[in-house]
Amino acid sequence: MLPSLPFGLALWAASLLGAVHSAGLPIPRSTLHGRSLHSARSIQSSYDYVIVGAGTSGLTVADRLSADKKATVLVIENGQLVDSPRISQVFSGVAAIGPTWSYQINSVPQRNLNNRSATVVVGKLVGGSSAINAMMTIRATSDDYDRWGSFFGKDSSWSWEGLLPYFKKAVTFSPPDDAVAKSVNITWDSSYWGNSSSVHTSWPRFQWPALEAHVEAFRDIPGVEFPPDSGSGKAGVYWFPTFMDPEKVERSYARTGHFDGLNGTRFDVLTESKVTKILLDDRVATGVSFEQKAGNRTAVFTVKAEKEVIIAAGAIHSPQLLQQSGIGPSALLEAAGIETIVDLPGVGQNFQDHPSVFTSVTCIISVQNFSVHPNPTDMYTDRNFSDWAQELWRVNKTGPYSLGVGNVAAWLGMPVIAPDTFEEIASKLEKLDYAASLPKGTHPTVLAGYEAQMKDMAAAIRSPNTAFYNHVLTGAGSSGTIVDLHPLSRGTVNINTTDPFKEPIVDYRALTNPVDLDIIVEIIRFTRRYYFETRLRDLGPRQLQPPASVNQTEDLKAFLSQSVNPTYFHPVGTCAMMPRELGGVVDEQLKVYGVERLRVVDASIMPVLVGANTCQTTYAIAEKAADLIKADA
Ligand SMILES: Cc1cc2nc3c(=O)[nH]c(=O)nc-3n(C[C@H](O)[C@H](O)[C@H](O)COP(=O)(O)OP(=O)(O)OC[C@H]3O[C@@H](n4cnc5c(N)ncnc54)[C@H](O)[C@@H]3O)c2cc1C
Ligand SMILES: *[C@@H]1O[C@H](CO)[C@@H](O)[C@H](O)[C@H]1NC(C)=O
Ligand SMILES: *[C@@H]1O[C@H](CO)[C@@H](O)[C@H](O)[C@H]1NC(C)=O
Ligand SMILES: *[C@@H]1O[C@H](CO)[C@@H](O)[C@H](O)[C@H]1NC(C)=O
Ligand SMILES: *[C@@H]1O[C@H](CO)[C@@H](O)[C@H](O)[C@H]1NC(C)=O
Ligand SMILES: *[C@@H]1O[C@H](CO)[C@@H](O)[C@H](O)[C@H]1NC(C)=O
Ligand SMILES: *[C@@H]1O[C@H](CO)[C@@H](O)[C@H](O)[C@H]1NC(C)=O
Ligand SMILES: *[C@@H]1O[C@H](CO)[C@@H](O)[C@H](O)[C@H]1NC(C)=O
Ligand SMILES: *[C@@H]1O[C@H](CO)[C@@H](O)[C@H](O)[C@H]1NC(C)=O
Ligand SMILES: *[C@@H]1O[C@H](CO)[C@@H](O)[C@H](O)[C@H]1NC(C)=O
Ligand SMILES: *[C@@H]1O[C@H](CO)[C@@H](O)[C@H](O)[C@H]1NC(C)=O
Repeated sequence: MLPSLPFGLALWAASLLGAVHSAGLPIPRSTLHGRSLHSARSIQSSYDYVIVGAGTSGLTVADRLSADKKATVLVIENGQLVDSPRISQVFSGVAAIGPTWSYQINSVPQRNLNNRSATVVVGKLVGGSSAINAMMTIRATSDDYDRWGSFFGKDSSWSWEGLLPYFKKAVTFSPPDDAVAKSVNITWDSSYWGNSSSVHTSWPRFQWPALEAHVEAFRDIPGVEFPPDSGSGKAGVYWFPTFMDPEKVERSYARTGHFDGLNGTRFDVLTESKVTKILLDDRVATGVSFEQKAGNRTAVFTVKAEKEVIIAAGAIHSPQLLQQSGIGPSALLEAAGIETIVDLPGVGQNFQDHPSVFTSVTCIISVQNFSVHPNPTDMYTDRNFSDWAQELWRVNKTGPYSLGVGNVAAWLGMPVIAPDTFEEIASKLEKLDYAASLPKGTHPTVLAGYEAQMKDMAAAIRSPNTAFYNHVLTGAGSSGTIVDLHPLSRGTVNINTTDPFKEPIVDYRALTNPVDLDIIVEIIRFTRRYYFETRLRDLGPRQLQPPASVNQTEDLKAFLSQSVNPTYFHPVGTCAMMPRELGGVVDEQLKVYGVERLRVVDASIMPVLVGANTCQTTYAIAEKAADLIKADA
């Protein structure tokens, strides 16, 4: 029996009851594949491929390379194989985010952020960051991927068209339940998606009713598009799915998609083993050495790679491993007492993440002018509602407990959010002294790469199809975190020269390019206009954070230096795929310059951060990497 429900909710419930995934065709599931080992003595002495990091990209590549069983593959992972309901849980999106399964590194305090430092969070377990992330399945616009290839000329296959098949290969899409889709007008187009991967994206079996009005309010803003699907490569306001298994209603991630089965013989994963060095023989990668802790002692082992060493340790640790192995900026290596094997100035530079700001504008939630419920707060304050929600979840895995952080957002370009000022901002960027935005002593090739990127960014500011503004709609009575999708500042991830085997030194250098602040000021102003100059005005918005009195440009900038968070958990760029003369670390084949048989295949290769959460793009990179590696085998 359902508890009695408030009137508004009763209508809702009636339309949603029985909203279960239609269990028709069997869904693709990983039936395989990996064998998990803990003792270093149980592995072979050599494999065709040795992969560093059993995260999002590492497991994807391992699965694909071993698919025909012709190649032997070992994946070495610093973290453990973890089974926990906190990881599989979809509700709230971030149940697994704490320190248990992640590296938590304090970034360098920044003077221009009031000496604040941030916590760098990346996954440390089998599955990597895909095991702890918020499961938002987002692809960036076509502009973003075309820009990557443009550094190599017109014919590069690193483009929207070139990557689309890999996006399709990487993830299986299931459409939303009809009743839920109708309830809030979810649109989608399956033609942008595939159906063969064991990594799944699907839809919660509930959406908050206020969302439709919040989406519709964007129609009052000139220039806002409403692309039919989140995978279409177009900026605008649209719905997007959740990395979730549609039958189990649990997180779908690199482990469930590319490892589970646990009883196959296709590839080995060695856990609790930290790779500390790539073994190089006359600039040819021949294997790795790694550490295992046994009681108080640390034992060091080596394993050989007959064909290639593949680095997939993520954007924080891949550059560290290269630097530890003598591949990186020679001055840094010298200071750390490491012999330079290849002077590669770009390693660990070009670091990017999405700056975000918490804003708060509260609105009385009202649907068709009768207030108020249900909304996300009711999960915690309305016992009737939460009992109902628990009952739905218990019986059918439907209802609000199937929701992550959200499924609809605005991803908008500067001409849309700042029609009066975007041109001025683009010109300011073009006239900037770029060297002044980078650390002193930056290598000329790295500076040249930055100049090339900033020239592109000026064009991006003028393009309606490069998203700068991101606002995830939650159906709550207030706004939340607003994200700058294309930061212009560049940070660094370098080894600690006192102890290169300690955690790397992460310096976001957020807002060191002054134009970032101009853009984020426009992002705040636009957010206000969204609430106060659209139909949402009728819901009585009140502005709390930043306070309404903070409205002058200089006051907003001061506010931002106290409140910008330099990370949205999307570190990239530290092993950039760029030409070597532009400070690149890997070429278009993802091969590290100056070394043979060594590639990087993770989020660190993105030369410019995409205007999207980074997981889906990382899967696509890994799928393409696997094909590149197989083509060379
Ligand atoms: C809290 C959080 C929330 C996020 N939310 C979203 C989201 O909602 N949507 C989205 O699209 N993206 C999200 N992301 C980002 C996305 O998950 C990452 O961009 C992506 O998973 C990165 O994949 P990767 O393969 O580069 O690295 P990872 O998946 O992080 O894998 C790297 C692996 O290498 C291992 N490793 C590192 N160093 C060594 C070493 N020396 N030896 C052995 N192993 C090593 C690590 O333990 C880890 O398992 C989020 C990330 C986080 C952390
Ligand atoms: C909650 O349910 C009880 C009993 O069914 C009812 O008396 C009460 O009015 C409900 N409260 C709300 C806020 O709907
Ligand atoms: C569970 O689903 C069935 C079948 O659709 C439906 O009849 C039933 O009412 C649902 N129960 C709950 C509590 O949602
Ligand atoms: C930040 O730290 C520096 C050096 O310790 C100090 O000089 C400066 O006053 C600090 N700034 C703020 C805003 O606290
Ligand atoms: C639903 O969304 C589509 C596509 O954005 C739009 O054309 C339509 O007007 C919307 N319908 C309603 C009822 O809001
Ligand atoms: C999977 O995709 C292929 C190619 O797009 C299509 O022909 C096939 O019908 C799809 N299968 C399912 C089960 O949806
Ligand atoms: C693993 O496979 C073997 C034979 O292939 C079988 O006997 C064993 O039960 C399986 N173990 C598990 C945990 O599935
Ligand atoms: C190991 O560490 C423990 C506690 O840290 C200490 O008591 C013990 O003496 C150490 N053993 C050796 C052999 O160093
Ligand atoms: C909401 O109700 C008020 C009166 O209570 C009315 O003036 C207004 O037009 C209504 N708005 C909508 C969108 O129906
Ligand atoms: C670098 O390593 C040294 C030695 O372990 C440590 O004292 C120092 O705090 C580290 N520096 C940073 C910035 O983490
Ligand atoms: C804030 O500034 C904007 C333009 O910079 C102006 O349009 C708006 O009216 C101001 N708002 C308030 C409350 O002063």
